[in-house]
Amino acid sequence: MPLMIRQLSEALGAEVIGLDLSRPIADAEFVRVHRAHLDHHVLVFREQQLTPRQQIEFSRRFGPLDAHPSQGDAHLAGHPEILVISTRQENGKDVGIRNAGPLWHSDLAYRQQPSLGSMLYAIELPDSGGNTGFANMVKAYERLPARLKAAVGERRALFSSTRNLSLLAHHPVFRTHPETGRKSIFVNPQLTKSIDGMAAEDSAALLSEIYVHCQQPEFIYSHEWRPGDLVFWDNRCVLHIADHTRLDDPTYIRHMHRTTIAGDQPF
Ligand SMILES: [Fe+2]
Repeated sequence: MPLMIRQLSEALGAEVIGLDLSRPIADAEFVRVHRAHLDHHVLVFREQQLTPRQQIEFSRRFGPLDAHPSQGDAHLAGHPEILVISTRQENGKDVGIRNAGPLWHSDLAYRQQPSLGSMLYAIELPDSGGNTGFANMVKAYERLPARLKAAVGERRALFSSTRNLSLLAHHPVFRTHPETGRKSIFVNPQLTKSIDGMAAEDSAALLSEIYVHCQQPEFIYSHEWRPGDLVFWDNRCVLHIADHTRLDDPTYIRHMHRTTIAGDQPF
């Protein structure tokens, strides 16, 4: 089947049809996938059958992989590049990160060099629930009221990890994509603590107005997972959130493998 790119929603996202990621990708195919990723920000590859090694190989086409700070207890045995996102338990212990991404965020935004993108591969899914929401921060920036753009100006913000408060970094509130040159909103409710150079209450009020704007339905695509889906999103210009409304239900099993591609310093 020839390689096809099919748009998934008005907000963002495209499905890549006709590509078996368990095999090496030809350079011409890679160029099209890379272009589609820059244009659509989120790519969905359906019906994949990937070993951990094959997922790592495909991920590495986009750059070196990042180790997640939680990987000490949540990485896949023998594959430190793979973070396990899972509600499964073995011997009463979680096998991976159970409650990943409860608020809108961009992966590893608290690093000096946050992630370029993440690839999440669905192995076992519940019969309902567990969607991932993706929000287009390029469109959100373009449609941000001038009043809010002016209030932020060139300011930076403080980001920190929710699990390890010593991991922190300052990044521009609005960053420029290093490959497309397009501006986007980078702050997010899970990892951004405050805007630099503002009084705490002013910063909190401004961030909350920006977040309300970013969460409008016109910017959002909600991905309904099927087993075998591999979804690759651009952390430089997309926020995402996991729907974990059934997390306390013991029959709710959602088991996934994530690889994270290292990025560069936001500007
Ligand atoms: Fe995440």
